[in-house]
Amino acid sequence: MAKGRSKTVFFCKECGYESVKWLGQCPGCKAWNTFVEGPAVKASAGKEQIRWKKAEPSRLSEVSITEEERTLTGITELDRVLGGGIVTGSLVLVGGDPGIGKSTLLLQMCQSMVAAGKHILYVSGEESVKQIKMRAERLGKFEQELFLLSETNLDQIVEAVTEQRPDVVIIDSIQTMYREEIDSAPGSVGQIREATAVLMRLAKELSVSVFVVGHVTKEGVVAGPRVLEHMVDTVLYFEGDGSAPYRFLRGVKNRFGSTNEIGVFEMCGNGLKEVVNPSEYMLQGKPEKEAGSVVACTLEGTRPILIEVQALICQTSFNMPRRTAAGTDYNRVNLLMAVIEKRLGIRLGDCDAYINVAGGMRIHEPALDLAVVAAILSSYRNQALEEGSICFGEVGLVGEVRAVNMAEQRVTEAAKLGFRKCILPQVNKKQLTLSQKVLNGMELIGIDTIYELLGVL
Ligand code: TYD
Ligand code: MG
Repeated sequence: MAKGRSKTVFFCKECGYESVKWLGQCPGCKAWNTFVEGPAVKASAGKEQIRWKKAEPSRLSEVSITEEERTLTGITELDRVLGGGIVTGSLVLVGGDPGIGKSTLLLQMCQSMVAAGKHILYVSGEESVKQIKMRAERLGKFEQELFLLSETNLDQIVEAVTEQRPDVVIIDSIQTMYREEIDSAPGSVGQIREATAVLMRLAKELSVSVFVVGHVTKEGVVAGPRVLEHMVDTVLYFEGDGSAPYRFLRGVKNRFGSTNEIGVFEMCGNGLKEVVNPSEYMLQGKPEKEAGSVVACTLEGTRPILIEVQALICQTSFNMPRRTAAGTDYNRVNLLMAVIEKRLGIRLGDCDAYINVAGGMRIHEPALDLAVVAAILSSYRNQALEEGSICFGEVGLVGEVRAVNMAEQRVTEAAKLGFRKCILPQVNKKQLTLSQKVLNGMELIGIDTIYELLGVL
């Protein structure tokens, strides 16, 4: 082989797609201008794993399963998203925008786990141990020792972990870690992949659970956490509106539990507080008897959450009416407005329409359709909905109201928060099996089309 220049390839810093030449658009994740040049990755950690043993398939019936060993973190919202605690020897990625609260969440997890007698090593490549101490002071008292390490050299970290044998290791953040053998800068796709592979091996071989923080990056040469999503066991994203105090922890991938579970937190002066009843929280400050405000019930994973949908419909003063949708799908809102125009004969073509899901949540569930339609109609006619009513249901192109899943849970959640009237798809109403406690004082109105909705409003 000819020696000379070391081989370089191009990586997409969004998703890690590899290509021998530079590309404008990534074929993997369709992002533009994300390719950066880097040395070809020698996956040393991967190579050592290969053992040339004869591969022998097992019989399904003979595979014995032992329940994975799980440890509770003591933070209920986090445990839920993890699928019931941390699985021993798993690698968990916690991704999110810089400053959203990833380090805070993990430090709080440390706080509650050391109190339960766990041995934890918190490795930070971003902050000095003094800075971590300062943050810890804000969070309150640490009852037992937590071990801190300010280090970015992965080999040193592996050594420390092997020596200390902690139960849990936190790596904050993966983008600051490097291995000398890989000759690209920390944060490059090559380094991140190598670091993840090393940590994965560490987790499996020593049976330590590893949490890895990954910043979502918009610009620059630092690769994002999507590069390692496929390598880790569990991917959690911590998201929220920077201006609002709510934070949502979302499971995106979980080899040991269901995804799509969410945990809800509030950022306070002394760390993150769990929000035990998100519905109540989301409806805080909801105006009463105002046109254009409708409460809907959406499902996040298996969890029903009540949220307020707001619409403002007014005569446009532009050539092209303005339409915006915050917290939900813009195209879906446009589609629903077209359905209203066509099926109900209401002229919305010369109206501006602003739709907003209050509380900073992003919802893409079709069950929200009926509430969006109701909010638009309510604002258009300047008529408020009756106090204490909620609605949910999917709206089809011919204006039919279609069934949604888990209607019982939705109605029950509404009843729990004192709602007395529920507008829902007729099909769902017929199949509901509700306890008497819920049914008492709850008026259920089943509708088949949005035309019937007009009558109910
Ligand atoms: P941090 O956990 O450092 O974010 P990340 O690790 O995701 O980059 O959180 C930083 C933000 O959180 C910072 O803007 C201050 C705020 N914060 C509070 O409001 N209260 C607190 O108790 C703490 C520790 C942080
Ligand atoms: Mg941080």
